[in-house]
Amino acid sequence: MSVKNAMTADFLRSAYGGESMAHMRYLIWGEAAEKDGFPNIGRLFKAVSYAEWVHAKNHFTVLKEQVGDYTVPAGAVFGLTNIVENLQGAINGELHEIEQMYPVYLETAKFQNEKDAQRSFHFAVEAEKQHADLFKKAQNLAKEGKDMADSKFYVCPVCGHTVEGEAPDKCPICGVKGELFKEF
Ligand SMILES: [Fe+2]
Ligand SMILES: [Fe+2]
Repeated sequence: MSVKNAMTADFLRSAYGGESMAHMRYLIWGEAAEKDGFPNIGRLFKAVSYAEWVHAKNHFTVLKEQVGDYTVPAGAVFGLTNIVENLQGAINGELHEIEQMYPVYLETAKFQNEKDAQRSFHFAVEAEKQHADLFKKAQNLAKEGKDMADSKFYVCPVCGHTVEGEAPDKCPICGVKGELFKEF
């Protein structure tokens, strides 16, 4: 794992910052959802929080030889109001990553022939698409005062692929065995 070009390295650091904050934000919103009587949406937040940790770890690992201190600017969503607004914040953050941030980062990594960064950005953007869909589903239910169904969530420990219900035999994004998926 390595990165050579400064611009791709900057994007990896920024993505690491964004994923780290998303990880923390989802734990906070998950706890709030539980307290407000939506335990299954709370579990969704925890599952997705783990996926963002996987993304942060992947970006950090690509940067492992870039030893030193950096100031890291990264997109950050704030707000802790009610479950519907918190879910809107989650949807907005995911859509920003899907539509703007990761496509640009991925194209830059391709242009600079940074294979490890390409893999890390690719894994993240694919997982964020499921996150956005799951948060939209949760929000539609929460708007009616309903929780999600009491089904499990499974997250790929390699790429963060996140599914509701059952783990696949094999991760469709990275190919890891489904039995390795983490259950929430
Ligand atoms: Fe996400
Ligand atoms: Fe995967």
